[in-house]
Amino acid sequence: MSIFQAKRYRIKEVLPQTDDNVMLRVKTRLNPQPGQFVEVSIPGVGEAPISSASCNNEFLDLNVRIVGAVTEAITKMKKGEQVHLRGPYGRGYPMDYLRGKNIVLVGGGCGVAPLRGIIEFIDKHRMDYKEIYLFFGFRSPADVLFKDEIDDWSKKYNLNMSVDKAPEDNPFNCSVGFVTKLLENAELSTDNTEVLTCGPSIMIDKCIDILKSKGFSDDKLWESYERHMKCSTGKCGHCMINGKYVCMDGPVFRHDEVKGIDE
Ligand SMILES: Cc1cc2nc3c(=O)[nH]c(=O)nc-3n(C[C@H](O)[C@H](O)[C@H](O)COP(=O)(O)OP(=O)(O)OC[C@H]3O[C@@H](n4cnc5c(N)ncnc54)[C@H](O)[C@@H]3O)c2cc1C
Ligand code: FES
Repeated sequence: MSIFQAKRYRIKEVLPQTDDNVMLRVKTRLNPQPGQFVEVSIPGVGEAPISSASCNNEFLDLNVRIVGAVTEAITKMKKGEQVHLRGPYGRGYPMDYLRGKNIVLVGGGCGVAPLRGIIEFIDKHRMDYKEIYLFFGFRSPADVLFKDEIDDWSKKYNLNMSVDKAPEDNPFNCSVGFVTKLLENAELSTDNTEVLTCGPSIMIDKCIDILKSKGFSDDKLWESYERHMKCSTGKCGHCMINGKYVCMDGPVFRHDEVKGIDE
């Protein structure tokens, strides 16, 4: 089976996360690496690139945020139905290169989903990595993704979580404010430490400023880019930024590779 051709896979489970995020668990052995993505298509509606939110050989978790027609149609799919996928595509996070290092993951909103794939990878190869720090931010307690896993992550790793606002209650007992504030206040050693970010570009830009003021060099910072895509295979040029194909050279880039590129 060519990665250019969509194939049908059965939906094992539909796991609603928030008002506008639904996770599909698809039965497949495609096993994209953390940070890679697949193209999900709905016949008659269209196609959308969606990142892997898991890392295993039995199923693929796709967390989808409803923003338009395709994402809405994907989230309406039911358990037992078949979804069309092609891929996996792109260059993900450099998990081999990161062996033996401390890793800081910074995620905002649905940007936490691809980082969940990294967590699953690290869970399976825990001895290969040193300290793991998680900085996750969501808009409000109701917008927190993977609610059932937060407790487990806080036991296994250094979890720092925030919500921008908690108008009613704060069941996670987390900080209220932007995740960038948590990062700013954190004591992080730059020694043997790399930072992987995923989220809104405004959050990533702010994180990079903060991390650089803490002494991190550009080659220790990794970010995932979102661009409009068509082919995802380096053919159409839709995703190009400054001579780079986000679909093939990325979506994950080291900061010095994309520094100065206008968003
Ligand atoms: C590599 C990659 C990984 C992604 N991973 C995920 C994921 O895990 N979960 C998820 O929910 N979404 C993810 N996205 C975004 C998702 O592909 C888009 O939201 C989707 O294609 C929108 O299609 P639509 O028809 O629902 O909405 P449209 O009507 O096409 O778009 C709705 C709005 O979103 C904007 N938009 C659409 N696509 C993009 C894009 N690629 N970048 C920036 N803005 C966009 C449009 O300009 C418009 O304002 C990813 C995108 C990329 C490039
Ligand atoms: S999406 Fe076509 S070249 Fe990247």
